[in-house]
Amino acid sequence: MIKKLTAIWIIPLFLWIQCGTDNPKEVYEAEVFEQAAVVTAHPIASKIGAEILEKGGNAVDAAVAVKFALAVVYPNAGNLGGGGFLVYRTHQGEYNTLDFREKAPHRADKDMYLDDQKNPIEDLSLYSELASGVPGSVAGMAEAHSKYGTMEWSELLKPSIELAKNGFKITKRQAKEFNHYQKRFKKLNPSGAAIIKDDPWVEGDLFIQTELAETLVRIGEFGADGFYKGETAELIVQQMQQGNGIITLEDLESYEAIWREPIVGDYKNYKIISMPPPSSGGVALLALLQSVEPLPISSWGFQSDSTVRAMVEAERRIYADRAMHLGDPDFFDVPVEQLVNKNFNMERMKQVDLTQATPSKEVRATYFPGYYYEEPEETTHFSIVDAAGNAISLTTTINDSYGSGVWVKGAGFLLNNEMDDFSIKPGTPNMYGLLGGVANAIEPNKRMLSAMTPTIVEKDNELFMVVGTPGGSTIITSVFQTILNVTEFGMTAKESVEAPRFHHQWKPDRIDVEESAIDSSTRAALNQAGYNIHPRGAIGRVEAIVVQKDGKLQVGADPRGDDAAYGF
Ligand code: DON
Repeated sequence: MIKKLTAIWIIPLFLWIQCGTDNPKEVYEAEVFEQAAVVTAHPIASKIGAEILEKGGNAVDAAVAVKFALAVVYPNAGNLGGGGFLVYRTHQGEYNTLDFREKAPHRADKDMYLDDQKNPIEDLSLYSELASGVPGSVAGMAEAHSKYGTMEWSELLKPSIELAKNGFKITKRQAKEFNHYQKRFKKLNPSGAAIIKDDPWVEGDLFIQTELAETLVRIGEFGADGFYKGETAELIVQQMQQGNGIITLEDLESYEAIWREPIVGDYKNYKIISMPPPSSGGVALLALLQSVEPLPISSWGFQSDSTVRAMVEAERRIYADRAMHLGDPDFFDVPVEQLVNKNFNMERMKQVDLTQATPSKEVRATYFPGYYYEEPEETTHFSIVDAAGNAISLTTTINDSYGSGVWVKGAGFLLNNEMDDFSIKPGTPNMYGLLGGVANAIEPNKRMLSAMTPTIVEKDNELFMVVGTPGGSTIITSVFQTILNVTEFGMTAKESVEAPRFHHQWKPDRIDVEESAIDSSTRAALNQAGYNIHPRGAIGRVEAIVVQKDGKLQVGADPRGDDAAYGF
């Protein structure tokens, strides 16, 4: 009798638990969460991440599920065909960074985008099969999961497989973008692709990606091998052969994500943990913070002319150093310690006249003895904190919005055009106007320099902020501003993300400003001091989480996109 009764109780209890875990109800959209938060560029991806956390997955489990979900719902940057970087901090305060950046195929050559006269061939590094580096995203997720994940890998793939198979309703912004890129997609993919449609896309259209669902099933079943070997790998190589691509089966099979020592440094009583080379993000961010640390910018005020001048003069110098000294550390000796050095950055700023613009043509990269010196003539980010306090900051990209525009036929995803992030010729700017030289020249199997800056900030040894953004060259300065908005200007996560932004990158010599950034009288004062103000559209799409004093999580999902925060 007792046995029977127990059985009667246990079965429904078991079913109830199963039901509860399969259909978590408690996740919701908000600006502050009690325990856990996921901020991404798409509401569906944020919800999926929060549901994984609610089921008991940790921040890495959620990141894996979000990353694959973004590959389905956010094809302009979420991806299988690209790469990225992540910074992870456990609730015990240990941290690590993972480099899953694309690498040059082994047949790449330093002059591969130049004509016989050694001039760059228009668009070759951008819109063709040849523009792609060997993708790193799937290897990155598999590596992160095997080291830190707790849930079954195949479970984490399930939501994205369903989404790709059954489709999801596109947003108004997505319909507009899909239509905007139709001409390029049709030209590069004459035999069609899920994203190609004869009638214009409209908000609410169901976007079904059957081939992508099949690729995700293979990844769910075989892990990274489901991408780098077998059918998916063969489809990628076939696509290469349709055009001028050079990625081989060997390139795919030999791809590895690499754990790297984070860039760590202090800014006042905060500790900054960010991405080392081959991203320039962490080095540049820390150098920027060190440059402004002794200056009273909080009393000067948010976007006052003194604050803007100080930030711009630091940016100008640090981007000049970036162009000279930064590249893949496995191929080029990068003077990281010299660049991320408080004395060096503070002393340099002391020499700067903060009342007048220094013309960029007078600013040269710093000479560090022993280091090479020669005068060189749509990404997406998400931030997650789980209920235990583990945090992940992950930025991923296929470079341009919708990457190279080349869709891998049969496998259902877009390939990156990350090769353009190399310096294809010294003195020739990349698509973001960034310059580079030997440090970032193309070499077989080398990783192209990035500006991606996934970052975690500690305050008094506790988790304080998780932040990052897309935006090409503006990534570093957007993260810089968002951190200062919180630490110096007392903004909440939401305010810090919404605040208007500006950017300077040494060359071209101008301050790019969003419409509402820097008020008109300050702009006039800056003009007077020799600064060239250049209005432009939105800068970045920052996703931030800030831990309040009471331990609750403030979130900032950038209103410049469809971005959303879910949690509980
Ligand atoms: O790695 C980089 O720095 C660039 N490929 C990032 C591109 C990017 O942020 C595009 N998004 N707006």
